[in-house]
Amino acid sequence: MRPLQCILRVQRSLRWEWMTSVSWLLLKTCRAHSTLPSTACPSPGQQEDGVRKDFSSRLASGPTFQHFLSASAPQEKPCSPEAEDPPPYLTVDELLGRQRKVYLETYGCQMNVNDTEIAWSILEKSGYLRTSNLQEADVILLVTCSIREKAEQTIWNRLHQLKTLKTKRPRSRVPLRIGILGCMAERLKEEILNREKMVDLLAGPDAYRDLPRLLAVTESGQQAANVLLSLDETYADVMPVQTSPSATSAFVSIMRGCDNMCSYCIVPFTRGRERSRPVASILEEVRKLSDQVLQLIHERDNICKQIHLPAQSGSSRVLDAMRRGYSREAYVQLVHHIRESIPGVSLSSDFITGFCGETEEDHLQTVSLLREVQYNMGFLFAYSMRQKTRAYHRLKDDVPEEVKLRRLEELITVFREEASKANKICVGCTQLVLVEGPSKRSATDLCGRNDGNLKVIFPDAEMEDAANPGLKVRAQPGDYVLVKITSASSQTLKGHVLCRTTLKDSLAYC
Ligand code: 5AD
Repeated sequence: MRPLQCILRVQRSLRWEWMTSVSWLLLKTCRAHSTLPSTACPSPGQQEDGVRKDFSSRLASGPTFQHFLSASAPQEKPCSPEAEDPPPYLTVDELLGRQRKVYLETYGCQMNVNDTEIAWSILEKSGYLRTSNLQEADVILLVTCSIREKAEQTIWNRLHQLKTLKTKRPRSRVPLRIGILGCMAERLKEEILNREKMVDLLAGPDAYRDLPRLLAVTESGQQAANVLLSLDETYADVMPVQTSPSATSAFVSIMRGCDNMCSYCIVPFTRGRERSRPVASILEEVRKLSDQVLQLIHERDNICKQIHLPAQSGSSRVLDAMRRGYSREAYVQLVHHIRESIPGVSLSSDFITGFCGETEEDHLQTVSLLREVQYNMGFLFAYSMRQKTRAYHRLKDDVPEEVKLRRLEELITVFREEASKANKICVGCTQLVLVEGPSKRSATDLCGRNDGNLKVIFPDAEMEDAANPGLKVRAQPGDYVLVKITSASSQTLKGHVLCRTTLKDSLAYC
């Protein structure tokens, strides 16, 4: 029996997770034994003796108890092969990608897009390189879909095309390896390997951590497969890497599998039991994505450096009553983090005065937050109870209207003082301004926005075009102009225009 068939048979009869670890054990044992030489047929007595001896020696040289323990808890394992012991039949070196180039092709649903990122994250840590050029690939992995017959047919057709690549591959290059990942690997298992001899590797949706080992096994020309489903694999510790650097969106997967068993659907059979990813790991991934956004705002000159961070109140007690989900301290910490990530960032915020139960002390906390953060822009409102809201049903709108308005006035005054202080720093500087159009207040002025999204007002005058010295132009909406700032209030900056420029050319000035 070829080791692979043995694994597949074992797998078919397994249902529960503890048994999954047993099948890992068998999988590893089978592979270890498959490399032992076969012996000639002895007599029954000798045979028993020989078998015992053979078994003892195999046991001594075989995998240890530790190997089985580590295989049974895949989620706690780091996915870097350097950090763990290799299986007994592979060296650490064989588990590494050694700069081989992987081409990943994704079919089907958003889960598959996410799975592609997970698989790549695991292979990247193993030393593989990614390529988007099929011709230069050493490993081609198709992340497949089984949802409808047509989806599978597409993969079969693709495999036929890839066959040519494999057969035409020059001997001077490392042999091309082709793998089927995901739902189709899970559904069809050995049928794929039997039908398409050129497929080297099968990995079901819960087996991506095993990819470096499976690929290492294929090195010797063997087919390798792991289609075991798990009850708890969520790849929680594997941070997916963005597939395309130009991607405009990122998906955060929060659960895997499905227990619904809709009568037409294959998904519960290909993706296994429903399981949720630990909340902490979801939050960690979202935090990383948010940090990437901050990094992007910092790096890119065509993104304005302003973030709206509605606080609503500076009192943790009121924030709790509002069910905002953060404390004053957490908010302030976030402000520091943003300021460290984007030096010079403009911050704006929303505040509500006189929310249900707001005391004078709570109000003073908000005043102090305005002073502490020194926002560049603020949107301040007196609380008005709205029907259907939780506050309407559960809380009392107990702050008198005149108190709400007095507190609002106080906040406006403090906000203006702080914003004026912040904006005054700009006086004397030359700023890059994106022209929006005529000023609302004066027909002879133009209005634009600086990099902090603050309004800049300047006379609509002729100016030089920096790209064409000597050419006089009038600024049009969408133009970039350089403006020398001469005065500042809490809401706007004023100045006079120096020249028309471009984003690229202006960087020399800022
Ligand atoms: N009363 C007063 N202000 C409110 N806001 C939202 N609901 C209310 C309300 N019932 C304010 C918040 C929010 C902004 C859009 O409007 O500050 O951030």
